[in-house]
Amino acid sequence: MINLAVPTPHDLIAVLAGGGQDARRIARRVREFRVYSEIFRPDVPLAELQRRGVRGVILAGPAAGAAGAPPVDPGIRAAGIPVLALDAGPGTTAEEEAALRRFLFEACGCRGDWTMASFVTTAVAAIEAQVGPTGRAVAGLSGGVDSLVAATLVPRAIGSRLTCVFVDHGLLRAGEVEEVLEAVAGRGLQVVAVDARERFLRRLRGAAAPEAKRKIIGEEFIRVFEEEAGRLGPVDFLVQGTLYTDVIESGAGHTGVVKSHHNVGGLPERMNLRLLEPLRGLFKDEVRRLGLELGLPGAMVWRHPFPGPGLAVRVLGPIDAERLDAVRRADAVVVDEVRRAGLYDDLWQCFAVLTDARSVGVAGGERTYGWTVAVRAVRSDDGMSAAWAPLPHDLLERIAARIVAEVPRVNRVVYDITSKPPGTIEWE
Ligand code: XMP
Repeated sequence: MINLAVPTPHDLIAVLAGGGQDARRIARRVREFRVYSEIFRPDVPLAELQRRGVRGVILAGPAAGAAGAPPVDPGIRAAGIPVLALDAGPGTTAEEEAALRRFLFEACGCRGDWTMASFVTTAVAAIEAQVGPTGRAVAGLSGGVDSLVAATLVPRAIGSRLTCVFVDHGLLRAGEVEEVLEAVAGRGLQVVAVDARERFLRRLRGAAAPEAKRKIIGEEFIRVFEEEAGRLGPVDFLVQGTLYTDVIESGAGHTGVVKSHHNVGGLPERMNLRLLEPLRGLFKDEVRRLGLELGLPGAMVWRHPFPGPGLAVRVLGPIDAERLDAVRRADAVVVDEVRRAGLYDDLWQCFAVLTDARSVGVAGGERTYGWTVAVRAVRSDDGMSAAWAPLPHDLLERIAARIVAEVPRVNRVVYDITSKPPGTIEWE
């Protein structure tokens, strides 16, 4: 059972999950009709649905009636809650769309008034209620969209009782620190920026294995964050940009084990903080729309996802300042050229990886023995699976030419044509 513990004054449709992906897709379709939906286990008791005031129930995937599917509480229909069975069988998108529309607006009488503006109103009331009149909160800014949107939303409820801590661990993309600080400037946000670049680099010295790097970065991040938050005096809440996808993955148990993406894992217990997760009902694209609603710049809101451990997982093998600088420059070239080609918004991610391969090249008549950069670009809906993107050859050529010309010591560029699975999106 996924209990968001957030009041929902708007209509709520329960999607009963037969298969994780299908329920997710249908929940999103419902929201496109401006009706809020949540995913529940197929055997959710009637009483729970009534407590949440659901206006209708949609059975998704195998829950729609296949043999062996968990039983749906027969009392739901008897209680007069409209039920729609949408199985994954044949049927066109247009048919499904028409069936959904009839169900939502005719059978259930939904109003279709769930917009990002109405979300802000509801969320602000919920944050006020949770934090109370004197509670104080701290938020970590990571450069990512989720933490930025969460940090922009919360002050609408509690004003200056939120402080944001932005740790520059030196593993960010080119220009990222400036962009984040610019995006939050003039919004009345209290931001403490910490330059921890030296510290992280020192701790990372000698670390080569992907998990070792992640562990060092996670631990060091907690240490820096704790020190800074400690200076603020008593704080009660930690704001996290947890998304609905994380909630489904950790709560409903349909999709198996998924790695944790939180930068600040372990902090709440150590610092005795309660969690404030104002985005936990939203999908990624909804968070982006919320960001625009809150007045954040489009360029920030539409940024590609970026891993918490940053460029550290894009430098294969040991990390030092020179190699970090190389991957940062190469990454900036990839993003710049993809943007110029008008393809940035078509891609889930595009980036450069500094591999640990060295190869022979030739420059100015001299033999070189340099570094190899791999370029990666993928399309994806949610990062769980991804298709490598067939970027135009002339674009690839420009990227390669600029990287070898602009990034010292790199003499070779290769293009990654692996999808996920079997590859992952990142190289480590
Ligand atoms: P993979 O490489 O597992 O990545 O296919 C899927 C998505 O998750 C991002 N990613 C991470 N994000 N911490 C994060 O916050 C991490 O350790 C991490 N590893 C991968 C990745 O960029 C992609 O969007």
